[in-house]
Amino acid sequence: MNAIIFNEDTKVFHIRTEHTSYQMMIGKHDVLLHLYYGAAVGDSEVTWRIVTFDRGFAANPYDAGDDRTFSLDVLPQEYTGYGNADYRVNGLEAVHADGSDALYLKYESHRILPGKYKLEGLPAMYGTDEEAQTLEITLRDHVSGLRAHLLYGVFPKLDVITRAVRVENNGETPIKLKKAMSAQLDFPHRPLDIIHFYGRHAQERLTERIPLPHAIHSVESKRGASSHQHNPFVILCDHAADETHGDCYGVSFVYSGNFKCETEVDQVGQPRMAIGIHPYHFSWRLEPGKVFETPEVILSFSEEGLGGLSRRLHDAIRSNLIRSRYVDSPRPVLVNNWEATYFGFDEEKLYGIAKTAREIGLDLFVLDDGWFGKRDSDTTGLGDWVVNEDKIQGGLPALAERIRGLGMKFGLWVEPEMVSEDSDLYRTHPDWCLRIPGRPMNRGRFQLNLDVSRKEVRDHVMGQIFQVIDACGVEYIKWDCNRSVGNVYSAELPPERQGEIYHRYMLGVYDMMEQLVSRYPNLLFENCSGGGGRFDAGMLYYSPQIWCSDNTDAIDRLKIQYGTSFGYPISTMGAHVSVCPNHQTGRTVPFDTRAVVASAGTFGFELDLQKLSEEEKKQASAWIRTYRKIEPLVQKGDYYRLSPAAEGSRHVVWQFVSKDRSETLIAGVLLENISNPRVHLIFPKGLDEEAKYQDEGTGAVYTGAALMHAGIPLVAPMGDYQPIWHHMKKCECD
Ligand code: GLA
Repeated sequence: MNAIIFNEDTKVFHIRTEHTSYQMMIGKHDVLLHLYYGAAVGDSEVTWRIVTFDRGFAANPYDAGDDRTFSLDVLPQEYTGYGNADYRVNGLEAVHADGSDALYLKYESHRILPGKYKLEGLPAMYGTDEEAQTLEITLRDHVSGLRAHLLYGVFPKLDVITRAVRVENNGETPIKLKKAMSAQLDFPHRPLDIIHFYGRHAQERLTERIPLPHAIHSVESKRGASSHQHNPFVILCDHAADETHGDCYGVSFVYSGNFKCETEVDQVGQPRMAIGIHPYHFSWRLEPGKVFETPEVILSFSEEGLGGLSRRLHDAIRSNLIRSRYVDSPRPVLVNNWEATYFGFDEEKLYGIAKTAREIGLDLFVLDDGWFGKRDSDTTGLGDWVVNEDKIQGGLPALAERIRGLGMKFGLWVEPEMVSEDSDLYRTHPDWCLRIPGRPMNRGRFQLNLDVSRKEVRDHVMGQIFQVIDACGVEYIKWDCNRSVGNVYSAELPPERQGEIYHRYMLGVYDMMEQLVSRYPNLLFENCSGGGGRFDAGMLYYSPQIWCSDNTDAIDRLKIQYGTSFGYPISTMGAHVSVCPNHQTGRTVPFDTRAVVASAGTFGFELDLQKLSEEEKKQASAWIRTYRKIEPLVQKGDYYRLSPAAEGSRHVVWQFVSKDRSETLIAGVLLENISNPRVHLIFPKGLDEEAKYQDEGTGAVYTGAALMHAGIPLVAPMGDYQPIWHHMKKCECD
């Protein structure tokens, strides 16, 4: 099947994936109209969806002549400019040399290319010529000469279409971009809900669902990071859509900096969505002949509800966004010393944790914050990536060697984008941080952002970090970012280019990460930003996992991991068993329950293993063995949310099913036990109706059909926060 078809007669573009269709049409006056995105419609071209009226106060462009039914203000379009009487949320705003900002974008040409387009210096999905095709449609503003090349990356098997825009100044004079969204999506005549993921530090990606209002609704970040507060992933869906039914659109921005996802229902009830770099503090000077590329957006659609959409996105991100070899190979089970020691450690303490970790059966010891510079608290040391020999006597290579001698891998925490005022780096180069001339700086966790838009700054920091990695043979890096971007002004840019700094900062971060992963292709790389402050598709291009949240309380994690699962594969969520009472909430949760929740992610430990009782050590060892068994399900399986982590939920249950449906894991937490309880049934999904499945724990045998239609009762031992765990495999048994 040719995934991209252009019909010369009707001027319709039809993008076809296995289960979806996306259609556009070169309409009257060469305006590129959006016809449809949704379930596959065969070879029909749905041009009849464009219905025009003479609408009051909906102006007409000059070239429409006397045709008062042609108004950009109500036509569904593919990508729009300003100043043409389309008063809705728009895509592209450019200020020309004369100070005007109008753009009337018209179809000029198109190309269909094998494979997937690439974006310079930006994360993006990748694909071979067999996996993907590219459609490039060029729109042109005839007055200024500006061109907007709309890029569509089509992955037929994944049911994914990516979008980005390459803006080219083909005029004679410089232009200033003020807004350059990556994609717009118009929905002719359709009421929709938006589901988005909001939160705060230690409470990321909580779920909110609201009907799109007749107003502009914005999910956004102006913090220089995709942020804890809003996530750059949203779902638009039917009012009635649930986990198993209904039309759902997923929109995932492949970017880790400022973003804006605007939605608006226009005067005649048509929703429009636009997503891209936040126009706040954004401008980009484009000289004649120069190009600006927007970051990418991943679009997917499923008519099988939210669950169907999530599974599509999980597959796409795992197969064609994450590049790490660890994406589907066993990851070392790690212990991280942060909650075990915070800043208070020496080499013997660390070695002790590593030794116990090895006895228990762990694979990787991660030395978190505090190993470098004069880093005895969070007030000092960032920027000095040389070992603190007061704390680690004998040096880091010697410690790494000792730990490796135990048979463990060695990993390290770094925070390359930051500097403490009390550091040698700051004392030597006070001008290397972002700083607004003449204004006192704001600090976040006592630290400042380095101006990583500057190559010399990046080279210095990465040079130091590479030396440490080389000297210690580091096998894992956790890259942190513990404040929002602030004091936004770069000493290197002229005043008229200061609007570029947020994006240049992000390009700098991506350049540093690219250097890291290309220099150490076998390194396991975990991203982090005070937990999940940069949990986005952009980061997953560099690292296969992201520390999901600084909140390690298993019960709070249920909501955080639930929200995260809508847009991101389960194997991308760093999740650790930590100590009780929990350091963030003071809550006490049974060990097994903590392990059940951590095993719905990239499993690890974050506590002083030496302080575990003998019984707990045995439990920890058993859980490592168990995780090893279910890890392929977590990494490659299909994920089902069987019951939500919502306000008032009595239980939260999820399920993995292997692609060949031979194995499943139904797991979760019974939050509250009450006396004389009602019996709740849980209905697994995605199984082979005919097959028989045996529960490894109880030995019980069920048909797939019985499990899915009759359900199984939720029973757990007495007490709150009890684990639910049914690992089942197909069997030949009677
Ligand atoms: C952030 C991370 C934590 C830990 C600390 C160290 O908050 O999310 O896991 O690494 O920094 O300072």
